[in-house]
Amino acid sequence: MTMLREQLLDDLSQATTAEQVEQVRIKFLGRKGLITNLAKDTDFSKLSPEEKRDFGAKLNDLKRLATDALQEAADRAKNAAESHAGAGGARIGQETRLIDLTVPGSSSTLGTLHPVTMIQMELEQIFEGMGFCVLDSPEAETEFNNFESLNIPGDHPARDMQDTFWLQNDMVLRTHTSANQVRALKRFGAPFRGIFPGRCFRYEAIDPSHENTFYQCEGLMVDRNISVANLIGVMKTLLSEIFKKEVKVRLRPGFFPFVEPGFELDLNCLFCGGAGCPTCGDGWIELIPCGLVHPRVLEFGGIDPNAFSGFAFGLGLTRLAMMRYGIRDIRHFNSGDVRFYEQFAPIV
Ligand code: PHE
Repeated sequence: MTMLREQLLDDLSQATTAEQVEQVRIKFLGRKGLITNLAKDTDFSKLSPEEKRDFGAKLNDLKRLATDALQEAADRAKNAAESHAGAGGARIGQETRLIDLTVPGSSSTLGTLHPVTMIQMELEQIFEGMGFCVLDSPEAETEFNNFESLNIPGDHPARDMQDTFWLQNDMVLRTHTSANQVRALKRFGAPFRGIFPGRCFRYEAIDPSHENTFYQCEGLMVDRNISVANLIGVMKTLLSEIFKKEVKVRLRPGFFPFVEPGFELDLNCLFCGGAGCPTCGDGWIELIPCGLVHPRVLEFGGIDPNAFSGFAFGLGLTRLAMMRYGIRDIRHFNSGDVRFYEQFAPIV
């Protein structure tokens, strides 16, 4: 009996699942179990009353011990199964897979927004605050929208300023977001306030400040009695909000066939305060080409130039992002190099 007891405890110490414990039970206490057989195989008639009593007592002890040990082992197996399941342990077939909670987890990386996207989102918010709508627009344009409607006919030298990618179907990859001015006027009429941010393309030789693919944000406001004062007011509000402080601007004459008068709006250098530094040269940074909408453009858009006037500007989004984040080479933007993007705050 002592040997059976040892054997039982040994078997149970190896049984970790409920099924294995059950097998041990059957082996010892089942109908043909080793302990059950013990009583069956003994010829009681050969034993003296004293021996019978002794045998009976020992057998009962062994049965009680076996029942208790089996119960304990079954409880242990059940608890283990539950805690593994709780820790995310997956049951595969009859097995419970163990998970080592001390192994370091694999960290997932958070993505960031592209710096141009961040600037664009900020601009959209600022302009929406001033009552402007935000319009989406196509990157492949008609020659009419990109050039003719903007007072740039086929033989106009201004076409040379914008080296163009022509598509085989006579469309162009838009060279500027101004291509949406007439589209928007035709669709919404006057009065109108809107911005059209988007990607533009020019056939450029690429260097630190020139890219063939870049972003602009066009703005257009048409209403009664719009003047240069309105243009300056909106530009100053925009720049103060973007750079988080009051900024000084100046207008210089600039030529664009679709505005009259046309200007280059310069920003008083934020690095040197206008004294002159390596970034700006003479204290001013050329930032936003703009002007009052040419009467012909209004006419192309179906608007009466005697009743309405307007201003337009073409903000270089990529340029603005470079200034805002201190990025010195435009080629980083389209590089797809994660080491560049990782420097910007992750999206949370
Ligand atoms: N579309 C012009 C460019 O890309 C910029 C511009 C826009 C100028 C609106 C005046 C008014 O060069």
